[in-house]
Amino acid sequence: MMKILVTGGMGYIGSHTVVELIEEGYEVIIIDDLSNSNIKILSQIEKITGVCPTYFNFDLCDINKVRDFASFHQDIDGIIHFAAFKAVGESVLDPLKYYKNNFYSLINILEVFPKTNFVFSSSCTVYGEPDSLPVNEFAPIKKAESPYGNTKQIAEEILSDFAKVNPAFRVVSLRYFNPVGAHPSALIGELPIGVPHNLVPFITQSAIGKRGAIVVHGNDYPTPDGTAIRDYIHVCDLAKAHVLSIKYLLKETETNYSVFNIGTGRGNSVLEVINSFEEASGVKLNYTMGPRRNGDVIQVYGDVSLAEQKLNWTAKNSLSDMMLSAWKWEQYLNENSFEN
Ligand code: WQD
Repeated sequence: MMKILVTGGMGYIGSHTVVELIEEGYEVIIIDDLSNSNIKILSQIEKITGVCPTYFNFDLCDINKVRDFASFHQDIDGIIHFAAFKAVGESVLDPLKYYKNNFYSLINILEVFPKTNFVFSSSCTVYGEPDSLPVNEFAPIKKAESPYGNTKQIAEEILSDFAKVNPAFRVVSLRYFNPVGAHPSALIGELPIGVPHNLVPFITQSAIGKRGAIVVHGNDYPTPDGTAIRDYIHVCDLAKAHVLSIKYLLKETETNYSVFNIGTGRGNSVLEVINSFEEASGVKLNYTMGPRRNGDVIQVYGDVSLAEQKLNWTAKNSLSDMMLSAWKWEQYLNENSFEN
């Protein structure tokens, strides 16, 4: 059985990817310091798959712990690296926390596993406000709007430079658009800490009564309904792209460094998301129009043809599927405490 290390595997996208890996027949090892997750996710993964993955709780910034782990795990066939801080606003307020954590953890893993197939969690944020849409992987990388976005851009460069001088190191960077939704079992999903900054978790918390009215950040954009447009992708579709990336790395011979956009290829406005949630859940949302949010781009959605071609992957879930799954998870959270 092939063994895959998933760093940050207790997190939102990580846990959904662990489920997909187990269901594809892989043995999974998780390293996660629980800085942005909850130990209960482990038993939730077991409820879904019938398998409790091996789990290590330590900080990947501690090179001694990483070396110690590697000395007992040289038989790992692939690594999917999610472990990183990801709150855009927080990164602006505390840049060193982001540069330290996101780079130390990445570099430590590369140091001890220099020849292991590697899938990296990147982001469409590297494109900034694209010059043309849909944005493809060859579009210019724009100056990052935040230290968080900068860590993704620089991490891609680290991987590219490392791959250039290590032909045995084979890497795929997946540039996510906007991951939303939850596993259809409603046993795992997004676990925002504090007030959600992202749209969909705020919508579901507002719908269940945990938050007040949704504030739409800007309705004076040059878009059909005046609100900003994003490429929302179901977290389960995104998770599947990671499994297919591992398979791709095992057989790809043309290159040892690939980058793929992972989105639906479709853009939806904030108001379209709100309307889709209301239709899918049957819940009427309370929202008001507010000012634009600093750092937001007007619209971004991806050209995903490269991933479809090279990974044989395509997003299957509709916006309505995303909204309903997010709502079912919020209802589950409301009945089952996940407080740390
Ligand atoms: C989506 C739209 C908001 C909240 C971020 C990161 C990106 C990636 C995905 C990690 C925007 C609007 C939001 C609200 C609103 N993360 N909005 N009211 O900013 O596109 O992307 O998450 O890789 O790197 O930047 O996602 O969900 O925060 O916002 O109107 O209460 O919803 O202005 O137009 P974003 P988001």
